[in-house]
Amino acid sequence: MLAIDATSVTKLYKGSSRPALDNVSLQVESGKVFTLLGRNGAGKTTFVRMCATQLAPTSGTIKVLGYDIIRQPGEIRNLVSVVPQEGRPLRALTPWDHVYNWLQIRGESRQTAREKTESMLRKLELYDARDRPAMNLSGGMKQKVLVAMAMAADAQLLFLDEPTIGLDPVSRRQVWSAINEWKGKGQSVLLTTHYMDEAEMLSDYIVIIDKGKIIAQGTIQELRKVIPHNMRVDISADGTDLESLQPYGSVVDTGTGMLRVFTFESSARELSEFAIKRNLSFNVSPVTLDDVFVYLVGRPIDKGDLAE
Ligand SMILES: Nc1ncnc2c1ncn2[C@@H]1O[C@H](COP(=O)(O)OP(=O)(O)O)[C@@H](O)[C@H]1O
Ligand SMILES: [Mg+2]
Repeated sequence: MLAIDATSVTKLYKGSSRPALDNVSLQVESGKVFTLLGRNGAGKTTFVRMCATQLAPTSGTIKVLGYDIIRQPGEIRNLVSVVPQEGRPLRALTPWDHVYNWLQIRGESRQTAREKTESMLRKLELYDARDRPAMNLSGGMKQKVLVAMAMAADAQLLFLDEPTIGLDPVSRRQVWSAINEWKGKGQSVLLTTHYMDEAEMLSDYIVIIDKGKIIAQGTIQELRKVIPHNMRVDISADGTDLESLQPYGSVVDTGTGMLRVFTFESSARELSEFAIKRNLSFNVSPVTLDDVFVYLVGRPIDKGDLAE
């Protein structure tokens, strides 16, 4: 059975002229980590909230674990677990309370709830802080409390909407390893992120959305082939322009003072010579998932992304 089966889903928020999601159809297989990748405003959270039965589409249908989000939301809510974007733990409650109470609400026995709470808090290195009110925790620890709650519950499908936002590199890895463990148990994950390394590390399948539309999807290997070239050369835009680089390959302005040329080895060598002759800084490397994104969307994911 599909974890998520969305058909022609459109969401137009009241008062906006452009749909947040525009005729999106997508199928998420069970037992996989499925990632929605896109800049802020792409429509990721809108999709997650609809699947989690928090928001109705303007048109189209979505089935989650075989149930219709409009007609059978109760069935779905029993089977899924959500880390909402910009969620916050309750100030006065401790990490232990959050996870333990949540498990009890979900119907776990006290004994099982205790065991699962301890194990999840240890995994995310929250155990030593288990009795501190959430208001005294750092931003990253608060975020991990939400992740711990969602992951401790034995849901069939886990929604993680930018779960590692604001986490330090060590905490991010703790969350990643918890996600991988989760996957090992055959449950499904719908992850959203704008971190390429995270997407690369965790995803079985990636869907790239931009401005409410799916612009590419596939495994990481498949997505790499979206770019017809295998090398990229970044050259300082200060001293050259798009037109003079176009003969060498496909050029995009990264908006960071560099022009990026997607090309092949022989042209990469010529471009290096071009740059050396003009005394321009440059950098040559094989293409990455990040490049796929820039190639498709025309700008890097991090620029201006955090400002929104
Ligand atoms: N409650 C809302 N009312 C009106 N517009 C919204 C609302 N939530 C999101 N949007 C708009 O919908 C688009 C998609 O937003 P969102 O799904 O949050 O994107 P993402 O999670 O990829 O950053 C954006 O243009 C955003 O401004
Ligand atoms: Mg979002």
